[in-house]
Amino acid sequence: METTLIILKPDAVQRGLMGRILTRFEDKGLQVVGCKLMQISQELAATHYEAHKAKPFYPGLVKFMTSAPVLVLAIRGNGAITICRNMMGATFGSKANPGTIRGDFGVSNSFNLIHGSDSPEAAEREFKLFFKAGEVLTFPRAIEGWVYDLSGGKPE
Ligand code: RTP
Ligand code: MG
Repeated sequence: METTLIILKPDAVQRGLMGRILTRFEDKGLQVVGCKLMQISQELAATHYEAHKAKPFYPGLVKFMTSAPVLVLAIRGNGAITICRNMMGATFGSKANPGTIRGDFGVSNSFNLIHGSDSPEAAEREFKLFFKAGEVLTFPRAIEGWVYDLSGGKPE
């Protein structure tokens, strides 16, 4: 099982899209195991996006991410990192395919609604930035055996 860090960005919170976006992940069969409404500080935004520090869009990105509260989520499932990235769609709202979150809910390239970890290494790094020990939970779901075929001992 994999857990990915998702951020519903300030535009998603301000536009009242939190519920509809979260519902997509729940409908898919993924499990929400952590959730936090917070305002990202300059320092946290700089650390989170440090790989983009030299890019021309970096100042605007940090300004956007710190401009209003975000909803940070921990989402668990088999292959959750890739599944969530595919559900998010391409980076720019203008290019993202219909059926994806960015493709269905936005047209902007800068205000693209959602962040998702892009690798297991990124997820591990990002969880340390956004969640304290004990804030991401492990708990059984009654429906697990209908979401996955567990007959072989591992989720299929
Ligand atoms: P994210 O990290 O937020 O999940 O998005 P991503 O992987 O799809 O895109 P990434 O290349 O990591 O870029 C991070 C965020 O920077 C903004 N961006 N603006 N104007 C531009 O050319 C540009 N390129 C990237 C977006 O907000 C993107 O999500
Ligand atoms: Mg990225």
